[in-house]
Amino acid sequence: MFNCLKYFLTIACVMCISIDITAQPTTPVQRFVGIGRDATPAEVKAWDIDVRPDFEGLPKGSGSVKLGQEIWESKCATCHGIFGESNEVFNPLIGGTTQQDIQTGKVANLKNTEYPSRSTIMRVATLSTLWDYINRAMPWNQPKSLSVQEVYAVTGYMLHLADIIPGEFVLSNDNINDVQKKMPNRNGMTTQHAKWPGTEFNPIIGPDTQNVACIKNCAPEPRITSFLPDFARNAHGNLQEQNRGVGPQRGLNTLVSKGSALPISVVSTSDANKPTEKSLNQMAMALFAKHGCAVCHGMDKKIVGPSISDITKKHANQADYLTAKIRAGGSGVWGNISMPAQSLPLADAKSIGQWIAQGAGR
Ligand code: HEC
Ligand code: HEC
Repeated sequence: MFNCLKYFLTIACVMCISIDITAQPTTPVQRFVGIGRDATPAEVKAWDIDVRPDFEGLPKGSGSVKLGQEIWESKCATCHGIFGESNEVFNPLIGGTTQQDIQTGKVANLKNTEYPSRSTIMRVATLSTLWDYINRAMPWNQPKSLSVQEVYAVTGYMLHLADIIPGEFVLSNDNINDVQKKMPNRNGMTTQHAKWPGTEFNPIIGPDTQNVACIKNCAPEPRITSFLPDFARNAHGNLQEQNRGVGPQRGLNTLVSKGSALPISVVSTSDANKPTEKSLNQMAMALFAKHGCAVCHGMDKKIVGPSISDITKKHANQADYLTAKIRAGGSGVWGNISMPAQSLPLADAKSIGQWIAQGAGR
């Protein structure tokens, strides 16, 4: 009886809403389904923020490198490093470009296979992209929180870190075109390949790689010429924790012994195969690195999520809670940023959960 009443009330409600709004249908969708309205000019303006390579769409304004440094150090350096060099949360943003590149407009290190990384400033050809991306997406934990002046300033500071503009420079809509002419990889972008932007602009249809299988006189097998000696392995902490778990630069897990995928104490569990506390700690740490947790959690440092030592303090002896939380993710305990659900095996989540609950020993 009550359910029935609720049902009729709902229907009545839906009807009055649709009658009300279909009063002024203006678009085909509205006429067809009878809901919605045109976006207001203010709503369209809020979405329409793209800055194009010729700087169409760039808001007027300016910002000094000096102000940019303050913003960088308070809002960007935790994730990207003081000099934009960090590989912890994302690829390095700065590094690998030279004065020579600024002259030629092509970054020589992109062709140098010995050079270990490909930073953002090495690759980006258009300054508009850098401005636009910072404006729409950074800082990662608070996108769109920067004012126009702050975006100019911090973009300028990144260019200063890359030695493109001097420390007293003020980047503005008036001079940004001149700075574009100094971008190290401005001539490095090509549209002559099959992926861009389609056959209507580009007659090349096939793939842009033409590898031919090597049959004889092929390159020799790789030969290891040097390695980290055992006594130095952990001299600077676990290198794997200091590097992202994805991308071209991976840190070696210096907690495990050379040539083994698992900590040596786990492999050779002595005393009737009973794992020691140390070996369990090491196994949990290896799993922690393997499942990419270190991308967001430092041992003693907050990255995107809280540090492991802080979690240990908050949830001592709560292994079951932690195990469940690791798999389910969630938000609100440490702030607004949420942790995505993690798809690791239950046994692995248990090992990590127990390890954190018992003090995250190393
Ligand atoms: C909480 C961590 C965090 C903070 C703080 C942060 N970033 Fe980022 N940044 C990232 C991540 C992660 C990415 C990669 C995002 C992606 O690819 O989806 C990124 C990407 C970028 C890129 C694009 C690089 C590329 O090659 O695509 C730029 C430029 C950048 N950040 C600048 C900034 C600036 C400027 C600030 C400060 C105003 C800042 N970031 C603050 C985490 C952060
Ligand atoms: C994309 C970033 C990200 C990744 C990857 C990530 N976490 Fe988190 N983690 C967070 C954030 C953000 C929080 C804080 C959530 C909150 O405030 O409730 C968090 C919270 C936690 C907590 C504390 C939960 C609580 O209720 O206090 C634990 C434990 C944890 N993470 C473990 C892990 C483990 C183990 C992994 C790998 C399997 C992992 N995290 C991967 C971002 C991440």
